[in-house]
Amino acid sequence: MTVIAVCSAKGAPGATTTALALALAWPLNGGSVLLVDADPAGADLASGYLQGATGPGAGAGAVATARSDLLDAVHGSAVALDATGSRLLLAGPAPFPPTRPGAAPAWSRLRDLDSTGEGSWSVLVDLGRLPAGADASLLAAADLVVLVTGSSLRAVAAARPAAKAMRTAEPAHSSSPRGWLLVVGERRPYPADEVASSLGLPLLGSLAWDPRAAAVLSDGAPAGRWFARTALMRSATAVTARLRDSAERRTPLSAPTSDESLLHTSVTAPDAATVVGS
Ligand SMILES: Nc1ncnc2c1ncn2[C@@H]1O[C@H](COP(=O)(O)OP(=O)(O)OP(=O)(O)O)[C@@H](O)[C@H]1O
Ligand SMILES: [Mg+2]
Repeated sequence: MTVIAVCSAKGAPGATTTALALALAWPLNGGSVLLVDADPAGADLASGYLQGATGPGAGAGAVATARSDLLDAVHGSAVALDATGSRLLLAGPAPFPPTRPGAAPAWSRLRDLDSTGEGSWSVLVDLGRLPAGADASLLAAADLVVLVTGSSLRAVAAARPAAKAMRTAEPAHSSSPRGWLLVVGERRPYPADEVASSLGLPLLGSLAWDPRAAAVLSDGAPAGRWFARTALMRSATAVTARLRDSAERRTPLSAPTSDESLLHTSVTAPDAATVVGS
């Protein structure tokens, strides 16, 4: 089980498009991929990629509150993202609203899916924009957190508070970082490694700047067989390999179960000594 949170700073750098590209590129290997639209500012995946074709009963309310059979709740509420039937979307609106500060976010209970006996699950969560001083529980509940940014000076400046929150929430002793930077459209104009170094986060990789393919994912523009071979999807495939590798290097997490377990992970205090990567 891997839970990956995808977030952004302000400026719509493409977090939702990126999360969907990763979900579609993720190798199944007999398991399932679940994309969760948990953007509190408004869910885009159902009205964008799926063009509203989510059917009745879609959405994640049932999953957030399901007491017993989580797997049933997921299958009853999720929508297939492609013909495999093993890439699923828990669509909005507001499926997993933020819980009170310090409490584990509702979507973190999806971690229990792996114990349901239906193969392994990879969960990608679109968190939307990460506010400065974000509640640490949002970050602590994921195995990996990916901050998506563009490569312009404006994008990097906008990403700085979110990057600081991620650095501060980084566990002190871990085999591999939890927080990573993903650059959408590198060299527009700055190289991805310069962006990562400026933000003090390790670089996961970059996604190609590819407006035609991105419009398929963000707005449901028509796609054909060409889509899988686009620069965007090829770069997404490369990024999924890096993500899986990073997830394997990290010691497995169990979801935080109490407010107390999160008290030491406040992300509000700036601390240059916690900068990871270079
Ligand atoms: N790799 C890319 N290449 C070109 N255009 C892209 C790429 N990724 C996203 N876009 C475009 O950028 C716009 C914003 O994308 P998206 O909705 O994914 O951003 P977001 O960060 O989720 O925004 P918000 O914060 O509003 O949720 C869309 O028009 C999308 O097509
Ligand atoms: Mg979005």
